[in-house]
Amino acid sequence: MSRIALVTGGSRGIGEAISKALKAEGYTVAATYAGNDEKAAAFTEATGIKTYKWNVADYAASKEGIAKVEEDLGPIDVVVANAGITRDAPFHKMTPEQWNDVIDTNLTGVFNTVHPIWPGMRERGFGRIIVISSINGQKGQFAQVNYAATKAGDLGIVKSLAQEGAAKGITANAICPGYIATEMVMAVPEKVREKIIGMIPAGRLGEPEEIARCVTFLASDDASFINGSTISANGAQFFA
Ligand SMILES: NC(=O)c1ccc[n+]([C@@H]2O[C@H](COP(=O)([O-])OP(=O)(O)OC[C@H]3O[C@@H](n4cnc5c(N)ncnc54)[C@H](OP(=O)(O)O)[C@@H]3O)[C@@H](O)[C@H]2O)c1
Repeated sequence: MSRIALVTGGSRGIGEAISKALKAEGYTVAATYAGNDEKAAAFTEATGIKTYKWNVADYAASKEGIAKVEEDLGPIDVVVANAGITRDAPFHKMTPEQWNDVIDTNLTGVFNTVHPIWPGMRERGFGRIIVISSINGQKGQFAQVNYAATKAGDLGIVKSLAQEGAAKGITANAICPGYIATEMVMAVPEKVREKIIGMIPAGRLGEPEEIARCVTFLASDDASFINGSTISANGAQFFA
């Protein structure tokens, strides 16, 4: 029987590549999304991967959504906490709403996603937790006090979960992508994009599939002794 994988924000961007790569490796995949029904429907049509809509910032909705996924597909073996947002502003202009939106989605959202799945993983003696953090959680970033705080917090989550889960066959690891050619990055003016690329020694943006390959490795049995680690995938832009 194939393993079951849940990918939050798995319907587009990096998450879409992760969902597809896990499916190609033989996992039964559930991809979640927040509100873009049109994109989610097109994704399911193209890939055959089921999508589920809930807000990762809402604990009750996450718990209910996860119960529905497990009822449909079976117990979740692999969880990829990928859903994330930005609400950028220089600190002196950052509003409490911008701070709270990002904390609720990127940090509390990881708690809300993993917490309902964790007891089942402990009982079954197997689990893979993979959190998509960011280069900006490692180095900080102008106008991203909120985002950098959450992405650094995500690293604390996996290092702690790794220690709690290791004896139960559960690993927890993070991936810190650098700048990846998703819609979000491709939407910035070409001049700004060129400036970003100028900071990347590899001389290019990363591809979503390059992050997805890190995920399929960390999810595999080959990665069972890798626990509490961070994979930096950033074209040599920054060394943690
Ligand atoms: N792109 C980069 O260069 C880059 C670099 C480093 C790290 N990252 C991280 O990688 C992850 C994916 O980024 P991306 O660029 O692929 O993002 P994206 O293209 O904007 O896609 C985000 C996905 O997350 C979902 N989502 C957003 N808020 C949600 C919420 N509250 N509840 C449930 N789902 C939610 C979206 O659903 P809808 O489609 O319904 O909106 C969408 O499926 C994020 O955690 C991001 O911080 C990205």
